[in-house]
Amino acid sequence: MPQNLLIKGPEKGVRLLTLHRPEALNALNTALLGEIAAALDEAEADPETRAVVITGSEKAFAAGADINEMAARDLVGILEDPRQAHWQRIARFPKPIIAAINGFALGGGCELAMHADILIAGENARFGQPEINLGIMPGAGGTQRLRRALGPSLTMQLVLTGEQISAERALQAGLISEICPTELTVERAIRIAEIIAEKAPLAVRLTKEAVHKAADTDLATGLRFERHAFTLLAGTADRAEGLKAFQEKRKPQFKGC
Ligand code: CAA
Repeated sequence: MPQNLLIKGPEKGVRLLTLHRPEALNALNTALLGEIAAALDEAEADPETRAVVITGSEKAFAAGADINEMAARDLVGILEDPRQAHWQRIARFPKPIIAAINGFALGGGCELAMHADILIAGENARFGQPEINLGIMPGAGGTQRLRRALGPSLTMQLVLTGEQISAERALQAGLISEICPTELTVERAIRIAEIIAEKAPLAVRLTKEAVHKAADTDLATGLRFERHAFTLLAGTADRAEGLKAFQEKRKPQFKGC
């Protein structure tokens, strides 16, 4: 039973994970990170779960790695840190993740948000990588994923000054896709997840993988992957159903095969 994470659903194909360490603004200690990774393993294995929403509280999505836990770790402790394996499990989750971000998304919290495929933020959201203020630097993808999302100048400004940006600025810069009134962020993220949950699961999975390839490879390799994935889907029953349903002017019934 997770101690720091509330798990709800799946309802209408959507599983909701709520970070719950209110005493530490949802700081990602190793236990919480492990619980997120384990919950995603479960969600991956469950065919009823088609998409996952991750959220925190209205005050904080997550205020970073747990600084008290980090302070107790020396170089060898960091080298042998189990956190890296948890981050890798989160990164390779194949179904769509939507982050519903209210309040602080700082350090590891911002990095967790960037592991999501779609980022929806409340008006009160604040993004930043303040590690530099602690004499360290981002260690869970912050420099790399922010650079891809925001470009070099704003990324450098954030990681070198530790400054935070507002939801408005994050939207303008392309880090997030929508801003909502704070109290509606989770509802909106769930709605987006429900829409995705109605699509053909294999098409969703390959589409997610193809979009990720755009960040990981050169254009020619990415285009080749897209074409192979597109071709692969020609062998699925859901493709036949999708095309037939269009012709028969009805809603498709996708089965995930
Ligand atoms: N780790 C552990 N505890 C944390 C925490 C963190 N990252 N962030 C906040 N808390 C705790 C505070 O210590 C405080 O606990 P107590 O009530 O027991 O004192 C409680 O949460 C509430 O926090 P504040 O009183 O500080 O709340 P605030 O509204 O005044 O300030 C804040 C909010 C600006 C987010 C401030 O808490 C803060 O600066 N937190 C640290 C942010 C940070 O530096 N994150 C990066 C961590 S390093 C990292 O993330 C590296 C990595 O992943 C690789």
